[in-house]
Amino acid sequence: MSSETLDRGLVLDAVRVTEAAAIAAWRLVGRGDEKEADQAAVDAMRNALNDLDIEGVIVIGEGERDEAPMLYIGEKVGSGKGPRIDIALDPLEGTTLTAKAMANALAVMAWAPAGTLLNAPDTYMDKIACGPGYAEGVIDLDATPADNVKAMAKAKGVEPDQITVCVLDRPRHAEIINSLRGVGARVYLITDGDVAGVINTADPETGVDLYIGQGGAPEGVLACAALKCVGGQFQGRLVFRNNDERSRAAKWGITELDRKYSLNEIVRADAIFAMTGVTDGALLEGVKFKEGSVHTHTLVMNSSTRTVRVVRMKRPL
Ligand code: FBP
Repeated sequence: MSSETLDRGLVLDAVRVTEAAAIAAWRLVGRGDEKEADQAAVDAMRNALNDLDIEGVIVIGEGERDEAPMLYIGEKVGSGKGPRIDIALDPLEGTTLTAKAMANALAVMAWAPAGTLLNAPDTYMDKIACGPGYAEGVIDLDATPADNVKAMAKAKGVEPDQITVCVLDRPRHAEIINSLRGVGARVYLITDGDVAGVINTADPETGVDLYIGQGGAPEGVLACAALKCVGGQFQGRLVFRNNDERSRAAKWGITELDRKYSLNEIVRADAIFAMTGVTDGALLEGVKFKEGSVHTHTLVMNSSTRTVRVVRMKRPL
């Protein structure tokens, strides 16, 4: 085991953290309050992290210190006695999905050795991703969506109309969607949750070949940690809408604002990735309450061993 690899014993600790956040958010499913649901998940995730013997630093969190009092970027978590870990988290990925009791809300977290995750500011990121098994470079963020579909179809040995592309349903993606449909691709639109959108490309059960579009940069880092564990390709470029966002990037050491990042530049060492379903979704079941017990469904993966585990937890509530 190299110093660039986290102890595999941490895998179960990661599960406990996302389980706690998911259970807390589940109590607010369908109650119409996104902020309250997010806050409940944040509090639970923070408490669970602080129970662990780790020296954790939040690299991707709830925002800058002045806007997020908890799990802000740079916050130290854990007892301070264990391994030094970079933490990327989204205690509730899909706040609207949760508030409206819609599918695919998740509690998500990734860990990597200290100093190895991209300090992405809370801006947008242009993203493209595909699953494992294709030659490096089959997808290219700088090519048109149509050309990416053609390249993927060629690599798969199928026609472009056999390619399915997951895209966030946003007006800003109209051109991308036209380009994709123009070449005959099937467009799988999601209302929210592009961490799962990217992970879908690595799960043959979903039928999704590509993910294309602009979503949160923090979600991009989390998705990369997941693909690092199961294979696949990802490219991302930060999108800055104003000088404030540019200065945030500079603060976290990002000088090449226009850089196209690959997966291994975003997650530079082995990572542990965990996500627990809040509501039922394509990848995981949501939290359930049955016969006096709470039940959770978690996917946890370790890139150093390429282990993928599905954990079902049940405990009296
Ligand atoms: P929240 O859970 O913070 O609401 O994020 C959901 C999400 O859909 C992300 O998955 C995605 O990256 C981002 O929002 C897209 O942002 P926008 O809603 O501004 O298009």
